[in-house]
Amino acid sequence: MTRRMMVAGNWKMNAAAAGLAELDTLIAAGPSAAEVVLCPPATLIAAFAARARGSHVAIGGQDCHPELSGAHTGDISAPMLADAGASHVIVGHSERRADHGETDALVRAKASAALAAGLVPIVCVGEIEAERDAGRALEVVAGQLDASLPDDIGGTVVAYEPVWAIGTGRVPAAEDIAGMHDALRARLTERFGETGIRLLYGGSVKAANAAEIFALRNVDGGLVGGASLKAKDFLPIVEAAT
Ligand code: PGA
Repeated sequence: MTRRMMVAGNWKMNAAAAGLAELDTLIAAGPSAAEVVLCPPATLIAAFAARARGSHVAIGGQDCHPELSGAHTGDISAPMLADAGASHVIVGHSERRADHGETDALVRAKASAALAAGLVPIVCVGEIEAERDAGRALEVVAGQLDASLPDDIGGTVVAYEPVWAIGTGRVPAAEDIAGMHDALRARLTERFGETGIRLLYGGSVKAANAAEIFALRNVDGGLVGGASLKAKDFLPIVEAAT
């Protein structure tokens, strides 16, 4: 099954309304063969979605609550993200797993909530450095994958992000990325059959390494943090996926 490449930018807790200028540059660059998603902070989603409407750039959230509404002060639900104009949402990012103690079961519930609200969840998995050093990367990530994905998978996207590669400038060897993606693809096929589930790589993707990473077997694009903040850095990465 052919899968369309996706490049998603995760702005994390960075940028303010001035970031709209970066979105304008992405829009002006025109559509690409790859699907482009930008995930700004929650406070900017409505403005970004309004600006991006009708363009090739989709807007996503960075997290959502597992319930669709209720007494959860300060949280944001998946239907609220959809109402603000988002079409995607990242769930289970390693920073949320670490900062907020998010478990696989919670991530799975968030992915289900996202699907129920009509959003495309981008579910993140990845090992920490000690797990890799102990030779347990595959076992850990496969376990996260199994427990973080809902049975009713819909159009869910998976992002493999080795935690030690995020924001560090360090990237696994090409054969390690390919090996992990091969294993995760096999696991997805075993559980869900031949689906169009896309498998992104994330962790220190930048213009200089994107083409090599995106050319690897079973890598269907990237989840990009730091290098997505400026359109001039992000656009060559989108280009590398086409
Ligand atoms: P990075 O972040 O590209 O800055 O390493 C990736 C991510 O956390 O999604």
